[in-house]
Amino acid sequence: MNNFKRTNITTALPYANGPVHIGHLAGVYVPADIYARYLRSKGEEVVFIGGSDEHGVPITIKARSEGVLPQDIVDRYHEIIKKSFEDFGISFDVYSRTTSETHHKMASDFFKTLYDKGEFIEQNSEQYYDEETRQFLADRYITGTCPHCGNESAYGDQCEQCGTSLNPTDLINPKSTISGAKPVMRQTKHWYLPLNNYEQWLREWILENHKEWKTNVYGQCKSWLDMGLQPRAVTRDLEWGVPVPLPDAKGKVLYVWFDAPIGYISNTIELCDNQPDKFGTWEKWWKDPDTRLIHFIGKDNIVFHCIVFPTMLKADGSYILPDNVPANEFLNLEGDKISTSRNWAVWLHEYLQELPDKQDVLRYVLTANAPETKDNDFTWKDFQLRNNSELVAIYGNFVNRTLVLTQKYFDGKVPEIHNLTDFDKETLSEITGQKTKIENLLDTFHFRDALREVMNLARIGNKYLADSEPWKLAKTDMRRVDTILNVALQLVANLAIAFEPFLPFSSKKLKEMLNINSNTWDDFGRTDLLKSEHQLGAISLLFEKIEDDIIDFQINKLQKTKEKNIK
Ligand code: MF3
Ligand code: ZN
Repeated sequence: MNNFKRTNITTALPYANGPVHIGHLAGVYVPADIYARYLRSKGEEVVFIGGSDEHGVPITIKARSEGVLPQDIVDRYHEIIKKSFEDFGISFDVYSRTTSETHHKMASDFFKTLYDKGEFIEQNSEQYYDEETRQFLADRYITGTCPHCGNESAYGDQCEQCGTSLNPTDLINPKSTISGAKPVMRQTKHWYLPLNNYEQWLREWILENHKEWKTNVYGQCKSWLDMGLQPRAVTRDLEWGVPVPLPDAKGKVLYVWFDAPIGYISNTIELCDNQPDKFGTWEKWWKDPDTRLIHFIGKDNIVFHCIVFPTMLKADGSYILPDNVPANEFLNLEGDKISTSRNWAVWLHEYLQELPDKQDVLRYVLTANAPETKDNDFTWKDFQLRNNSELVAIYGNFVNRTLVLTQKYFDGKVPEIHNLTDFDKETLSEITGQKTKIENLLDTFHFRDALREVMNLARIGNKYLADSEPWKLAKTDMRRVDTILNVALQLVANLAIAFEPFLPFSSKKLKEMLNINSNTWDDFGRTDLLKSEHQLGAISLLFEKIEDDIIDFQINKLQKTKEKNIK
């Protein structure tokens, strides 16, 4: 890990066909942001790449159903998604989109390079064609009767009633969803990436050399590899996407899963073109073996990021490969799978309207309950409990008591240390003890446990105040109170640093209250962050209790969604 000079952090590009919800945040963007902020705070060189995935069939289907163009759909959702991420403090260096000119050129060139190297297989196959609208039909554009359960509106790739995955030819009475016509079989040519040729290399690269990957990721890779890999089509008959850059490929585009990960590279290019002084060349981030590449994704994306995209990079030959892919499992909502079509989600833009200024509360709950090793459940009761009994009762309470006492006894000026007792020294030494634990956890992508250890530091602070009781000593031994509050204040200042990657809004607020600004991770552990006589800023509550009516409102809202879905 120390052999690397810099880190390139990418996050799965969300499809721009709907807004983003808490599942996105918990699985990908919050952990990636914690990691990026942590590394930056340590002074490391980082790029943090995001963007919208704006191609693919679902976007064209949505556009058709609304009677607008695919471009209109992606324009709408790109803005909403981008704003949600900004509002939640996801600190991307760039958030661009796969419809950008830079990306179309990059994806096209990438394909062309592999084509020229002879990496693809050309193959003809029979596919359903709609003679009325004169186009080949993507699997999702065909419906028919499921051969397993008799559901009459099964899709060409899956029956949503019985969950079976299907081929379009499995459907009884297939119909084009575009014209309603009965589709016919027609020959079409596509280009395939022969993953099978890379199987041995992948086995060694992942199964031998990356045993440190998370067990869920490693396990999925192993089972894919054990099943044996097949050539995969990287082109589609579709109008929407990056045109296949070959003369005999009219009406064909790159498959969305071929172009989207290249979006990471395109977005880096855009960033480096715009800020060359700050970020240098894009090649530095993608071609220098001293750069470490980390992909943050959800578990449904594992095969594409661990097998397909690395094969593309390897086939080109000039790129680095991912060093780690810390994929998360799924977050459920109140016991049910999050679903866009059933509106079973907490949408980020709605959350912020209803719970303004509570970004950090959600970041906290989603990290404390992150689906790192198994699917987890988000419930509003747990949200309330974690806010009230952890953020308010532990972190907020410690900060508030310390600052209020400093205000009361010293007019907000940091008192001086006279004489440290063994208890003081032990307490202070726990700061560096916690720091080591937190670093080890962050370095290995254990964000949930890392956050728990930061919270434990606040617990240490609370215990320190409770055991040393400065409010009692104030009547008899003011010199001792000086020392106690100095120690407590140093702890508070350390918490502002330690919590920053997780709860950036609260750390900013806390630093304003402490009247300090530019502390970095290296300062974490110091016990002289606040000099005596330093004047603190104005005090307010760091977190506020969330009452039942707020939670009841959210639970009722979901209840109504449920009733609607049943009708
Ligand atoms: N849009 C995909 C999804 O939401 C993720 C694409 S990740 C990328 O599942 F690598 F392809 F960009
Ligand atoms: Zn079925």
